[in-house]
Amino acid sequence: MSDETLTEILPPIRHWPALDLSGVDFDPVLTELMHEGPVIRVQLPDDEGWAWLVTRHDDVRKVTGDPRFSREAVLERQPARLTQHFVPSLGAVGFLDPPAHTRLRGAMADAFTAHGVERIRQESRRLLGELVDELLQDGPPADLVATVLSPFPVVVTSELLGVPAADRHGLRTWTRLILSSSTDARISERAREEMGAYFAELIGRREGSTDEDVSSLLGAAVGRGEVTLEEAVGLAVLLQTGSEAVTHTCGQLFYLLLTRPDLAERLRAEPEIRPQAIDELLRYIPHRTTVGLSRIATEDVGIRGVRIRAGDAVYVSYLAANRDPDVFPFPETIDFSRSPNPHLSFGSGPHQCPGGALAHLEAGLLVDALLDRVPELRLAVPPKEVPFRRGTLIRGPESLPVTW
Ligand code: HEM
Repeated sequence: MSDETLTEILPPIRHWPALDLSGVDFDPVLTELMHEGPVIRVQLPDDEGWAWLVTRHDDVRKVTGDPRFSREAVLERQPARLTQHFVPSLGAVGFLDPPAHTRLRGAMADAFTAHGVERIRQESRRLLGELVDELLQDGPPADLVATVLSPFPVVVTSELLGVPAADRHGLRTWTRLILSSSTDARISERAREEMGAYFAELIGRREGSTDEDVSSLLGAAVGRGEVTLEEAVGLAVLLQTGSEAVTHTCGQLFYLLLTRPDLAERLRAEPEIRPQAIDELLRYIPHRTTVGLSRIATEDVGIRGVRIRAGDAVYVSYLAANRDPDVFPFPETIDFSRSPNPHLSFGSGPHQCPGGALAHLEAGLLVDALLDRVPELRLAVPPKEVPFRRGTLIRGPESLPVTW
């Protein structure tokens, strides 16, 4: 876009509170912001200043794919809002720009492709089978989050990371201590250090390995001098704890299916539509509160006739992009036959979530196991009594009381 067409008029700054929402309710403030315009200014609770917010699918893709918007610069600009669904540290993958970002992501990329995660499908199904066996043996009622949705992603991620079966229990304990909001901060920090020390040893041992798991890929990259051991360990800890996102997104997914029996019935009756239906559910589920990390413009850039100045912070909303009516007709409707479905639930551009194919595989296995093996599965309390997480970035039920 040429400079002459850019407006210098700054839109008003809108305050965007981080609401504690229940169920799968879409943030009503975000709905208003989307109506206000495609490129507006917002102030988030933890931010001192204002930032741009981009909400249309097309613009979100442009901003996230444009190297003139930097993540490295975020660290210099906004130390207050440095959170996604993990606690970041300096040099973490979320705050790197190419070429450092490409180098680090490249080291583990093969394990996270559709082909890479397919490798662990059988073992993941077996691990889930054990959890569902226990659920059925213990009998109703049960909390689906505590019994299945929380432990399953942790063990699957350990599997992808190449953690030996004997060590999985320890990884589960550390992950729980790191992620639990009720754990003392010092205990969480110690668990993080212990997990880091564990991965340093595991990755160090695999330096010459040709295996396909993440620790082996990282070990080989360390051996070739492509990444440092410190970078590899930081990434492994981030990936292991990243499994939390699947717990909460699938918590919302099952809340949705249990409160919309028509959707669950269709999935039971037509198992062949499940992969496509899961994409539609992922598009619809509002997985987070407000927005993730911003990006900083390194030079003046025009978006929809608005001049973004060098140094300005820009947020994209993947949730808003997923409801863009130009891309998703009747965006409020859950339509299992929606095609194409270019949802941005896993982000876009170089920082796109590496866990997308893995999360899809896990969601698919969970839907298969719980719908097919527990056909009478239903909520044990009225929907309004399901407790949802409060004050967190990632939304989802705190517990999901079910019976059958
Ligand atoms: C349903 C589950 C998940 C959702 C909805 C989700 C969503 C996202 C989103 C929206 C981003 C940010 C993209 C950006 O910064 O623009 C992201 C980044 C990331 N996710 Fe996920 N994620 C999920 C599961 C996972 C899993 C299972 C893992 C690890 C095994 C993971 C690891 C990461 C990492 C490491 C990043 C940072 C990538 C980078 O900055 O290069 N996520 N995720």
